[in-house]
Amino acid sequence: MAEKSNENSDSDKQKRAKILVLFGTRPEAIKCAPVIQEINRRELFETVIVSSSQHRDLLLPFVDIFGLSLDYDLRVMTANQTLNQILAKTISELDTLLDKESPQLIMVQGDTSTTLSGAIAGFNRDIPVAHIEAGLRTGNLRSPFPEEMNRRLTSKLATFHFAPTTQNRQNLLREMVSEKEIFVTGNTIVDALNSIRGKREPSSPLQNLLDKTAGKKRLLLTTHRRESFRKAMRENLEVIRDFVKARKDTCLVFPVHPNPYVLSAANDILGGLERIFLINPLDYIDFIALMENSWLILSDSGGIQEEAPTLGKPVLILRENTERPEAVQCGVAKLVGGKPGVLAAMLDHNYLADSWVKSVGKVQNPFGDGKASRRIVDILETLAK
Ligand code: UD1
Ligand code: UDP
Repeated sequence: MAEKSNENSDSDKQKRAKILVLFGTRPEAIKCAPVIQEINRRELFETVIVSSSQHRDLLLPFVDIFGLSLDYDLRVMTANQTLNQILAKTISELDTLLDKESPQLIMVQGDTSTTLSGAIAGFNRDIPVAHIEAGLRTGNLRSPFPEEMNRRLTSKLATFHFAPTTQNRQNLLREMVSEKEIFVTGNTIVDALNSIRGKREPSSPLQNLLDKTAGKKRLLLTTHRRESFRKAMRENLEVIRDFVKARKDTCLVFPVHPNPYVLSAANDILGGLERIFLINPLDYIDFIALMENSWLILSDSGGIQEEAPTLGKPVLILRENTERPEAVQCGVAKLVGGKPGVLAAMLDHNYLADSWVKSVGKVQNPFGDGKASRRIVDILETLAK
C-alpha cells in the first residue's frame, strides 16, 4: 500500500472531520472527482483519498485529468481478477487503513466491487458510509451482474444515500431506507462533464481518426458488461460488423475495454476490417469529442447513458434493462434488449430513416444540473454540525 504524504499539520487535523473517499474504476473516478474538488475547495473537512486501483490503465488518465492526488493506492488489480479477489483484497487493505486513519465518514460511489468493499469495511468498523449515486435499480438481481446486487447491498450498509433522481429516491423508499437519510442531489457525472468539456482540442491521434472518417456516419461502440459475456456480446459484435461491412458510408470506432474477454471478442470478430477502428480506451477529453462527433452511440455503459442528454447524442443501449430509465424517458436512448435480430433491425431502421437520430437534441439532463457535488457537500456540512 502506498503511504500517505503528511501535508496537514497535527493541529489542523484535529479541527476538521476526516472523510475517506474511495474509488477504483474509471466511472468512479469521474463521478467522485467533482465531490473531492468541492470538499477541498471549502477546506472544511480533511480528506483521505484512496484508490483501490481495481483498474490501472483505465483509471490513471482520469486521476491525472481531474488532478486527484491519492493519499493511498491499494493496488489490487491483477489480470483476470475475480470478483471475490477484488472484494477480499480491498476490504482487507481498507481495514488496516481505517485502523490507521480513523475517518468519521467513508464515501463510496456507484456499484462496483470497490464500492461494496468500502461499504462493508465501513459498516464492520462502525464508521458511517455515504453512498453517491444511490437508488439505481433494474429490479433484476442478476442484471447487471454483479452491479445490481452491489448497489442493493451498499444501500443496506450505508447511512447516507445521495440519490441522483427522484425515481432513485423512490426505489430506496420501497426498500425501507429511511426518508431522512436520502438526499436527491443529481448525478455528479454532469458536474464532471461540464468541467472537462471543451477544455482542450482532441489529441492528434483522435483528430487524425476524425479526419480519416470525415463524412461517414460514425458509430461509436463501448461494451464491457459481464452479464453479456459469451453469447450476447459476440452476437452484437457480429451484427454491428455486418452492418458496417454492408454500408460503405458508415464506420465504427470501438475504444476497447481492457477486460480480457472483451479484448478477445473484439479482436476475433472485428479485427482487421475496413472502416472498423479498434482503439485503446480514450481519456475523457477525447472520448467526449468522439461522442460529440458520432452519428449513433451503441453502448452498455452506465455513464454514457447519463452523458448523452447533455451532449444530445442518440444511444442504443446494448442491454435488456437499464437502471437509468430517465435516459429513455427523455428520448435520447433506446433499449435494444437481448435479441441480436432486434439490434440489426434498429440499425437498419435508423440508417434508412434516421429521423430519431436526427431528432435527438440537447435536452435538460434528467440526471443532474451540474450542481450535484455542491449539494452533496452542503449536506455533509449540515450533517457535521
Ligand atoms: C468494472 C466494474 C463495472 C464497471 C467497469 C467500468 C465490478 C464488478 N465491475 O468492470 O461495474 O462498469 O469496471 O469500466 O466492479 N483490466 C486491465 N486494466 C484496467 C482495467 C481492467 O487490464 O485498467 C482488465 C484486468 O484483466 C481485470 C479485468 O480487466 O482483471 C476486469 O476488470 P474488473 O474491474 O474486474 O471488471 P470490469 O469488467 O472492468
Ligand atoms: N469513457 C472514456 N473513455 C473511453 C470510454 C468511456 O472516458 O474510452 C467514459 C465515458 O464517457 C463515461 C465513463 O467512461 O463517463 C463510463 O465508464 P464505463 O463504461 O467503463 O463504466 P460504467 O459507466 O458502465 O460503469
